[in-house]
Amino acid sequence: MFYGLNKFIKNLLPKQLFYRALLIVATPIIVLQITISVVFFDSLWIKTNKGMTRSLVSEIYTFVEAYKNEADYNKQKLTDLYYQNFQLNIKYIENESIPSLKSERWFSPIDRTLRRELKSKFNNFWFDTLSYKEMIILKIKYRNGILQFTFPKERVTNSSARIFALWITLPAFLLIFIALIFLKNQTRPIINLARASARFGRGEDVDEFRPSGALEIRQAGYEFDKMRKRIIRHLNQRSEMLSGISHDLRTPLTRIKLQLAFIKDQNIVKKLSDDVQEMEKMLNEYLQFASSRSEERAETFDITDLIEKTIKKYENTNITSELTERIHMFGRKNLIQRCLNNLIDNGIKYANKINIKLNKNNKYIIIIVDDDGPGIQKKEYENVFKPFYKADKSRGDSKSSVGLGLSIASDVVNSHGGNITLNKSPQDGLRVKILFPF
Ligand SMILES: Nc1ncnc2c1ncn2[C@@H]1O[C@H](COP(=O)(O)OP(=O)(O)OP(=O)(O)O)[C@@H](O)[C@H]1O
Ligand SMILES: [Mg+2]
Repeated sequence: MFYGLNKFIKNLLPKQLFYRALLIVATPIIVLQITISVVFFDSLWIKTNKGMTRSLVSEIYTFVEAYKNEADYNKQKLTDLYYQNFQLNIKYIENESIPSLKSERWFSPIDRTLRRELKSKFNNFWFDTLSYKEMIILKIKYRNGILQFTFPKERVTNSSARIFALWITLPAFLLIFIALIFLKNQTRPIINLARASARFGRGEDVDEFRPSGALEIRQAGYEFDKMRKRIIRHLNQRSEMLSGISHDLRTPLTRIKLQLAFIKDQNIVKKLSDDVQEMEKMLNEYLQFASSRSEERAETFDITDLIEKTIKKYENTNITSELTERIHMFGRKNLIQRCLNNLIDNGIKYANKINIKLNKNNKYIIIIVDDDGPGIQKKEYENVFKPFYKADKSRGDSKSSVGLGLSIASDVVNSHGGNITLNKSPQDGLRVKILFPF
């Protein structure tokens, strides 16, 4: 049961650090304000009002009692006296009755106190605290008419209540506002760190990360930066080693190719030169992979044109395209060309027909490469992006496969801040969707 309650409360609370911290700061302030207000209201304001109202009602009661004894008092004189001394404007209106419609407010403390006090002295009365801003009108049944009393509101209530309320809420808002500014400053470094980690995780370049904020956050930032540098060093080492080996192997391979010319048996020559060719292809691919992070300058280029030219080079009628409009993008042209090549190579290797679409919406440039091959199983979608991973070893010409094509493609897309996803194509083959932000 407690678990359920816990979960419910957790769902109710804000998820972001900033809002949680704000809640921690603001809740005590608000609770304190409410407590003070309630105590003030009850013990001071209401009690004072009650005292004031009671004395007013007693005055009125005295007046009515004196008024009744016509013989002893001069009515006009009495009325004047009350007006001068008690700020009570009194009028006797004959043949008027108490209004049947009550205009009291139930939730107003002033009305409530007045009603309670009047009830203890009179049975038939009516009052109105709303119609005038500063005045209250009270009507009391008297013989066959009514006595109408008009008196200022300040006779029954303490007017400092509003000022007190202002003084109590204004500093609270001020405190919360100051806390807001400080909290924003405290959470910003965390957000920056999270953003930098996310970008680094996607394989994008993170410029020098400068840790900031409180000591602990700064520490986390330093550690992240150290880790980032270690990983980059590690990746560079891997690429350098790979390109070193590939490069070094090319020389003996070239020598083997030359020596093949001296072999008489054509059968063996054919087999050997096939193998040599394959090895060369693999080495080229290793080199490509190793240099896929190489520094090429980004520029604005016509991506529609790039796709058209790439397709033309293949001289393959099975490759079709739907390029609706000229689209320009900012990026590293050669890398994007390599990415496209890898996807088309896969299409040729694993399928027959390839269709390339280029589109854009207000946020992204969208490239879709569809084929009609066997596709890739859903559970392999993530794995095929890993270097040297081949989904189905028996598929296609596995001998000439290295398993780097998609890995390079996703590296290229990520380094442009884009996103590459796999899906099923309408022809039941593979659909590769690339989004480049612009
Ligand atoms: N269009 C496709 N249709 C079906 N399966 C594919 C397709 N493209 C890739 N795959 C699968 O994903 C795996 C990884 O592809 P990737 O391009 O990375 O490597 P590769 O094509 O095997 O080798 P390389 O491209 O390095 O020569 C492939 O082995 C293949 O099983
Ligand atoms: Mg491939």
